[in-house]
Amino acid sequence: MRNHRKFLIWLLFAALLASVPATWAAAMRPVHAPHAMVASVHELASRAGLEMMRAGGNAVDAAVAAGFALAVVHPQAGNLGGGGFMLLRLADGNTHFIDYREKAPARASADMYLDLQGNVIPKVSLVGFKAIGVPGSVAGMVYAEKKYGKLTLERVMAPAIRLARDGFFLAWEDAQDLHDEDLAKFPESRRIFQRNGNYYEAGEVFRQPDLAQTLERIEKNPDDFYHGAMAKEIAVAIQKGGGLIAAEDLANYEVKEREPIRGSYREYDIISAPPPSSGGVALMEILNILEGYDLSKYGNRSAAAIHLISEAFRRAFFDRAEFLGDPDFSKIPVAQLIDKKYGVAWRESINPERASLSKDLKRPVIFNELERYAKLNLQPWSGPEPENTTHYSVIDPEGNAVAVTTTLNDSFGSRVTALGFLLNDEMDDFSSKQGVPNAYGLIQGAANAIGPGKRPLSAMTPTIVLKDGKLFLVLGSPGGPTIITTVANILIGVVDFGLDIQEAVNAPRFHHQWLPDILLLEDQISPDTRRLLEAKGHKLVVRHLWGDGECIRVDLNTGERLGASDGRNNGKAVGY
Ligand code: GLY
Repeated sequence: MRNHRKFLIWLLFAALLASVPATWAAAMRPVHAPHAMVASVHELASRAGLEMMRAGGNAVDAAVAAGFALAVVHPQAGNLGGGGFMLLRLADGNTHFIDYREKAPARASADMYLDLQGNVIPKVSLVGFKAIGVPGSVAGMVYAEKKYGKLTLERVMAPAIRLARDGFFLAWEDAQDLHDEDLAKFPESRRIFQRNGNYYEAGEVFRQPDLAQTLERIEKNPDDFYHGAMAKEIAVAIQKGGGLIAAEDLANYEVKEREPIRGSYREYDIISAPPPSSGGVALMEILNILEGYDLSKYGNRSAAAIHLISEAFRRAFFDRAEFLGDPDFSKIPVAQLIDKKYGVAWRESINPERASLSKDLKRPVIFNELERYAKLNLQPWSGPEPENTTHYSVIDPEGNAVAVTTTLNDSFGSRVTALGFLLNDEMDDFSSKQGVPNAYGLIQGAANAIGPGKRPLSAMTPTIVLKDGKLFLVLGSPGGPTIITTVANILIGVVDFGLDIQEAVNAPRFHHQWLPDILLLEDQISPDTRRLLEAKGHKLVVRHLWGDGECIRVDLNTGERLGASDGRNNGKAVGY
């Protein structure tokens, strides 16, 4: 009897330990599993996904379970009140792209963030009720589950409801993040996430009963979120604070399936996010430019390789600013931008010895559609890069693969909470004024002007790579504009430099986005390399760490799933 009790106490202790997220420790090797894998920024979300596959669900069930769980355990970016993109590549070879990006409300207008003099009013598109776009995540996840999942909504939402109701142990990093100053400006957010100023500490159990109740309401009647009492409650809460979203905006929200971007890089097929994401188009432009170089001969993170790759980044972001936006509202010349001939023409403008000047960059004239170079009235910019967004990757035993990137935009979005969940500040991903940089310093053109019912331009880049027609990589990252360059760097790391997936995710990052004309480097890139880059004319800005690659590679010989969660963060790849 006593032994029995001892065993029970041991079991409880083991369960507690298992549910405490590990402190920061860079994974050096990928996680190996023969059948299935989930990689996400939080172990409990990865485990929620795995639980579905063990119960007979497929990769979509796992992705939806992980998505709802992230809304509980990673409120910085996991969400009900934001939007996202889900890229599926099914075992039968079919691909699908589900767009549940936020939309501007009907009352939004092109100059809504400008003062009487026509200047952008600081922060209104970032923090508070006016920053909120119509959320798409609930619609998107429910749509994906119903159309492509095998289990019930009740089953896939169970882990999230459990985590919200019973709570989970807060990791040190997550407890720190909850100190966010802007969260304190909104009484509901301050109550829920900051216990009215008595801040949560690492190791404390964080329970969210309001969120549990909302999740239960969604599970019982998901339509209510867009067409019923929940829609009215959300609209009332937002309008009370001066926001524009009405119940009709929620009723008019629609999920869209779109054709993914497809291209090739060396002997690999690339499948990625189409507009309203700029991710897939920019990624393909970058890869098309780089295809003409034998990068492997320069060595991973050598100055020569960083220079060439950054010049490709510079050119892709130049086009991003000019052409990309919501394809339902503007004609986006996707075919021309991802044409290999266009990549060749851009490559010819790169000097391997000297950095180009962004202000002098000239688009190669090979397609009429691209010739109408609008003169963006460029403004100088420097400022912090907010961390935001989250990505997770799933492969199931049948070989179905799912890549999801989802966001509230900034960390904790607009900082406004309604019905227990945070709402996005995605309106800042529009250009408040043509040529004036947004929170990420991104300059954007007319295609991404604010308009009622429009989706703001995104950089989210969920990507799947095939080799010889077989599933090879599932990739993605958060990080605003750095999403695109992080995904490109991970892909190039595996393909050109022969890194394993964990090494490719952990490798020091670098980023260029045309404007501001700076090369951003992680500080693990050596001073010698930095000097060589400066000698080529690059203006460097060195930062500590950014991004969060949550990726999977398939071993094409054994079929093993190799999961990589970013060594920079507290996530985990789990498999069986
Ligand atoms: N809000 C980040 C993105 O969509 O790119």
